[in-house]
Amino acid sequence: MNILLIGSGGREHALAWRLSQSPSCEKLFASPGNPGIADHAECVAVDPADHGAVLAFCLDRNIGFVVIGPEAPLVDGLGDSLRAAGIKVFGPNANAAILEGSKGFVKDLCARENIPTAAYARHSDKAAALAELPRFGLPVVIKADGLAAGKGVIIAETEAEARDAIEHMFSGGFGSAGAEVVIEEFMTGEEVSFFAISDGRNVVPFGSAQDHKRVGDGDTGPNTGGMGAYSPAPIFSAALEAEVMERIIRPTVSAMARDGRPYSGVFFAGLMLTPQGPRLIEYNCRFGDPECQVLMMRFEGDLVELLLAAASEGGLSGADRPALSDEAALTVVMAAKGYPGTPEKGSPITIGDVGDARIFHAGTVVKDGQLVASGGRVLNVTARGASVGAAQIAAYAAVDAIDFPGGFCRRDIGWREVAREKAAG
Ligand code: AMP
Ligand code: GLY
Repeated sequence: MNILLIGSGGREHALAWRLSQSPSCEKLFASPGNPGIADHAECVAVDPADHGAVLAFCLDRNIGFVVIGPEAPLVDGLGDSLRAAGIKVFGPNANAAILEGSKGFVKDLCARENIPTAAYARHSDKAAALAELPRFGLPVVIKADGLAAGKGVIIAETEAEARDAIEHMFSGGFGSAGAEVVIEEFMTGEEVSFFAISDGRNVVPFGSAQDHKRVGDGDTGPNTGGMGAYSPAPIFSAALEAEVMERIIRPTVSAMARDGRPYSGVFFAGLMLTPQGPRLIEYNCRFGDPECQVLMMRFEGDLVELLLAAASEGGLSGADRPALSDEAALTVVMAAKGYPGTPEKGSPITIGDVGDARIFHAGTVVKDGQLVASGGRVLNVTARGASVGAAQIAAYAAVDAIDFPGGFCRRDIGWREVAREKAAG
């Protein structure tokens, strides 16, 4: 079968690597892809916003399956357009991708289904939002309802900050994403990312990860898309996973199906492990980036088979959970200097001997035969090990074999878990 992968980041490089290994993958195309993805796929330029063009490409190249990496085309209904033409798609239709596209939708669903999450209020009127603010205490979390490229969440320590955030959102600070605002109770605890794969009715757990969102060592500095991640998150025990499947994921799958919005694709649940138990922070309708890279590093099955089962009605009925290695995987993001502000572009990169580590490309191009940086997050240096600590050592050994003068990375990815491993002896 010919397959088309939509996307261009490190997440898609990891997916391309595993998809291309499947015996049922005849020819893999990626749009737009990147120089790393080009090792596994033919990169083409088809605009994902132009559904007609994607469909025409699929018909022309006899594409039987489309895997959509990022959230924007999903929320925009690319899945609907392709399914309407009889093409199988990994990733939800727009009416199900709303789980990422509208934070307020998720909160209402949680309230109806009794899914544990932070208390909230949803407002499309500024005066009403400001009036309800005091009942949440401080700190308080203010969110733009829609997609805001990961920037629409403000944790306000003071009432003035909270009021400013609400004012900013209603005055268009996040574009149409802020036309509606969600105010949330602030939850405390450790955050974990959990992934589960659904065909719309059946759902299987996939795996856990923890990422590092701040740009600097010790989790300092501004937020980023993620500076590194590891999987599994050992703090997320089998008992916690069972509780999350039972109280959060399965009720969501059932509610969405009942609502006529069956969710087929991957659930990326952001969870807070609070003293009262695990609670949902948010859903994303795609794999995490860079969480996907560490999951793919541990995945031991046939990725086309798994994603195709999720894309087929009832395809996961009776399915076992996908096999992931017992080993840990850890990825370090090498970013261009300036990120998450304005990254320096064009800096040359030379990858030396990185042993068994895998280098996923996130923001690179080849210019005059030389690999150079073209984005904020540039490379994902990913390794496996018997423990998170061992994977960390292997990943940083690979980082040190890469010559990238215009780049930087955090030196402490995995620190929480490595400290726990050390304390446990
Ligand atoms: P989100 O984009 O919803 O994942 O939010 C971004 C980050 O804000 C999360 O990863 C959490 O660190 C934090 N956050 C979001 N909602 C809450 C909440 N209700 N309580 C505490 N932290 C939160
Ligand atoms: N690493 C977080 C995300 O993909 O949203």
